Amino acid sequence: MGQPCQQAPNGEVAVRGPLFWFRDDPSHADGAAAVVYESDGVVLCRDGHVLATGPWPALRGQVDMPVHHYPNHLITAGFVDAHVHYPQTRILGGHAGGLTDWLERHAYPEEERFSDLEHARSTAGVFCDKLLSNGTTTALAFCTQHPESVDALLTETSARGMRMVAGKVLMDRNAPEPLLDGADHGYEVSSALARRWHGHGRTGYAVIPRFAPACSPAQLEVAATVRREHPGVLVHSHIAETTEEVAQVGRLFPDRDGYLDVYEHHRLTGPGTVLAHAVHLTSAELARCKDTGTALVHCPTSNLFLGSGLFDLPTALDPAQPVTLGLGTDVGAGTSFSMLTTLGAAHQVARLRGWSLDPLRGFYLATLGGAHALGLADHVGSLAPGHEADIVVLDPAATAPLARCTDRAESLTDLLFGLAVLGDERAVHATYVAGHQI
Ligand code: GUN
Ligand code: ZN
Repeated sequence: MGQPCQQAPNGEVAVRGPLFWFRDDPSHADGAAAVVYESDGVVLCRDGHVLATGPWPALRGQVDMPVHHYPNHLITAGFVDAHVHYPQTRILGGHAGGLTDWLERHAYPEEERFSDLEHARSTAGVFCDKLLSNGTTTALAFCTQHPESVDALLTETSARGMRMVAGKVLMDRNAPEPLLDGADHGYEVSSALARRWHGHGRTGYAVIPRFAPACSPAQLEVAATVRREHPGVLVHSHIAETTEEVAQVGRLFPDRDGYLDVYEHHRLTGPGTVLAHAVHLTSAELARCKDTGTALVHCPTSNLFLGSGLFDLPTALDPAQPVTLGLGTDVGAGTSFSMLTTLGAAHQVARLRGWSLDPLRGFYLATLGGAHALGLADHVGSLAPGHEADIVVLDPAATAPLARCTDRAESLTDLLFGLAVLGDERAVHATYVAGHQI
């Protein structure tokens, strides 16, 4: 195995080895053209961007920078975690029943600690370390109600040069008092944070009404207003994670025609809206997400951990009209920071639905698909020239079971399937952020 030895200060590097990446969704009619695979490829990086990607024999003449050679590995675009809670970094595996019990016993008490800037700062550092050691270079993250929690995270990700979209949580009911804020306060603080952070380097802002049960109609209006006043800011929330939550939303919003209609009524759907879970959406609601360009995020380890239900992946990915879909760890209800583990769980959920997730489609969702969900497909999720040089180097022999599985692989599909079902943080050999190896 070649070990990286040197790197020019401006991030000039050539990352060489077997590589694959996506131009498009591989399940489209011309799927074969959607995936690029080079058995001996190279990605040339300069000034944080991909300069060229292709076969080593064709590009070697252009290589005037240090070469990091990984002949026994697999190079691809850095992963995109489309739904994660950074304040929940320290509470993975907290014992509880379903969602409400878990929120009350683990998530809310931990989030109350983020009024302390030092706690927020140190957790942000651990969170970034965990993302990067898992090959995740872009994320859409919840912070807490406290503006300090947003500043702590985005200061940390900016210092590391990472792509991050994050925001303050908005809640004004049905949660502990210290985590609530009134609509006026939520508007002022969210607006100030959006002005400070949106478009600052590689940072984006998301307005985050936590979920309909914790937001009054006035608070949802605040979210819509902040989005309207700051073009490009995302809306990030949860939807239809559990049947109890869906029933509660029916009671809280009796004039609305279902959960999705609550968000639609308040102008919180459409392109730029990213909704996690969607386990219990009706087929009409799923179709409406497709029609409006509302992105959904599948969070399988979380759904299995909390027993929330099995996301209807076959309908969501119906090639006739696929919903815009990303994959999320949903840490801390999700049980791993690893997008490989998340892919393995997505496979299990698909099987329990009587379906199979094509591994190529799975890795697309974990990279370019997630980038589409976040409106960042021109920037990340791909090794195409012009994209930001966020790269992960996977080790398909990282553990003995994985090595044996890799040995038997006859195709890229076999190799990726093994990485998804047996891989985790140990299978991430190296991560590059904007051309810099971490
Ligand atoms: N719904 C509202 N808040 C949360 C949260 O923190 N985690 C999950 N999984 N679902 C939620
Ligand atoms: Zn969540």
